[in-house]
Amino acid sequence: MPGTIETILSRRSIREFTEVKVPRQDITTILNAGRWAPSGLNNQPWKFIVIQQKETMEKIAGCTHYSKIVSNAPLLIAVYLDLDTMYNRTKDLQAVGAAIQNMLLACCELGLGAVWLGEILNNKDKVNLIISCPESMELMAVLAIGHPREKNARSSRKDIQNICYEEKYAEEWK
Ligand SMILES: Cc1cc2nc3c(=O)[nH]c(=O)nc-3n(C[C@H](O)[C@H](O)[C@H](O)COP(=O)(O)O)c2cc1C
Repeated sequence: MPGTIETILSRRSIREFTEVKVPRQDITTILNAGRWAPSGLNNQPWKFIVIQQKETMEKIAGCTHYSKIVSNAPLLIAVYLDLDTMYNRTKDLQAVGAAIQNMLLACCELGLGAVWLGEILNNKDKVNLIISCPESMELMAVLAIGHPREKNARSSRKDIQNICYEEKYAEEWK
């Protein structure tokens, strides 16, 4: 099993999946990784909705430009901020981000591919209607998950010198 750093560095967004279903045990592992993220005051402001029914997935696909990714994934997890549990919007958003990253890393370690979909937030009210969520639930992301069809997905990052500094802003990190 790879270590955490190795998983962080090797994780890539995967947008094409095979038709093979994700085992329920793996889904539980992913959900556990999400709910064990840190949160301010340990308030755990997230809710996760697991979606596998094709009919629902097709409706959700209609809510994003990335419809192909959604309709070809065997599993979606809609990640919500529960406004009733919220205590500080900034910190609660950060906590939900941590939960999402935990889930992406869990997917990677399980050999699954996943992508964090944010563009769908433009239609978050429509998604709420489709999956019967009250207004007190704010959609944060939809994760599309499945067995990866693509291998060696590539990505890049800004150079460390352009974003990290020594002691003071703009003092170069060597
Ligand atoms: C907040 C957020 C929103 C994103 N929304 C989308 C999206 O709507 N569609 C998509 O294909 N990828 C989306 N991504 C994935 C990014 O494109 C991807 O993480 C980035 O290009 C870096 O690639 P990597 O994850 O493979 O390292 C999103 C990522 C984040 C963190």
